[in-house]
Amino acid sequence: LTLYEQLGGQEAIQKVVERFYEKILSDDTINHFFKETDMKKQIRHQTLFLTWVTGGPNQYTGQSMSKAHEGLNLQEEHFNAVAGHLVSTLQEFGVTEQQIGLVVEKLLTMKEDVLRK
Ligand code: HEM
Repeated sequence: LTLYEQLGGQEAIQKVVERFYEKILSDDTINHFFKETDMKKQIRHQTLFLTWVTGGPNQYTGQSMSKAHEGLNLQEEHFNAVAGHLVSTLQEFGVTEQQIGLVVEKLLTMKEDVLRK
């Protein structure tokens, strides 16, 4: 079973993403990055994106990770904060540490593209 299937597919992933953004928007160290962001669109894109990285069907048609974060000047601490919110969200949803480890591994492969652009 893929993590996507274990979580319960697209609808479950969307709930994870909504909770994840609740956490991000209440974190004053990073929420300023999302001041101008259309959160409905962001949640839709992030849901498709997380679907893909957890082994579900690839329907993500958004920007590349380097393009999406261009000009934000994101630093390691911002990346770690976002990754931490994703981990704690997955924990809340009862995802095992082993599965969370796999998600974190995938996130880390995108770190260079996300930071300092
Ligand atoms: C946009 C994923 C890290 C802030 C996006 C989008 C995705 C995404 C899928 C949507 C792109 C689109 O709409 O075409 C990720 C992933 C990350 C990551 C996988 C880590 C591996 C971060 C971090 C921050 C951040 C660390 C800041 C703390 C933003 C902002 C946008 C964005 C501000 C643009 C929203 C807008 O268009 O207004 N990200 N992101 N992201 N992300 Fe990230």
